[in-house]
Amino acid sequence: MELRPAYPVATERLLLRPLTVADADALLAYRGRPDVCRYVPFEPMERPLIMDRLAGRWSRTVLTGEGQALTLGVALAETGQLVGDATLFWLSSEHRAGEIGYVFNPDFAGRGYATEAAQAMLRLGFEDLGLHRMVARLDERNEASAKVARRLGMREEARLVDNEIFKGEWSTELQFALLDREWAAIRPR
Ligand SMILES: CC(C)(COP(=O)(O)OP(=O)(O)OC[C@H]1O[C@@H](n2cnc3c(N)ncnc32)[C@H](O)[C@@H]1OP(=O)(O)O)[C@@H](O)C(=O)NCCC(=O)NCCS
Repeated sequence: MELRPAYPVATERLLLRPLTVADADALLAYRGRPDVCRYVPFEPMERPLIMDRLAGRWSRTVLTGEGQALTLGVALAETGQLVGDATLFWLSSEHRAGEIGYVFNPDFAGRGYATEAAQAMLRLGFEDLGLHRMVARLDERNEASAKVARRLGMREEARLVDNEIFKGEWSTELQFALLDREWAAIRPR
């Protein structure tokens, strides 16, 4: 099993492709915002950390083993504007399990871009990497994210009450999941 996407990965309105140093300003514009980071497991980022990530974990373009994560920039096909990023985590090769994550710029919210990009990540995970099961985990208060998971057709499977201390408060976690056979039935053509 491995994943070597042909870039850019195109959807109806978006292009998903590896992030580069040229994306630093656009990343800072949303990953630096406290509101964007409210329910994600990192603090608002400053430029040095973004540069560090671009040189490190975000420079990965293929998945060759479990435990790796592929983060792609999501750009508007029409203008090239970076509107967010999406991540595919390969959790287990034995169980063919993965997880998706997404972080988008609120200036481009409410247009379905996050859902469209997450769908592309599900497609990569199921159809190209060969995963059997993919999950999304989120803080129950993160309604926008739960709506994305539901819009993707993911099943709400678990509600873990006060599961983690999250930024100083107890976080109740929702877990959503989708299987490869379910994806085959709902995948956009
Ligand atoms: C989670 C997050 C990506 C969701 O962003 P979003 O803009 O609400 O999601 P989408 O881009 O899929 O847009 C969906 C909205 O666009 C609307 N929409 C408009 N055109 C659409 C289209 N063509 N297709 C789908 N939805 C469309 C939908 O109705 C929906 O609006 P609603 O929420 O009022 O029902 C965003 O809030 C975010 O980045 N949050 C911070 C980071 C974060 O918490 N990430 C998740 C961690 S678990």
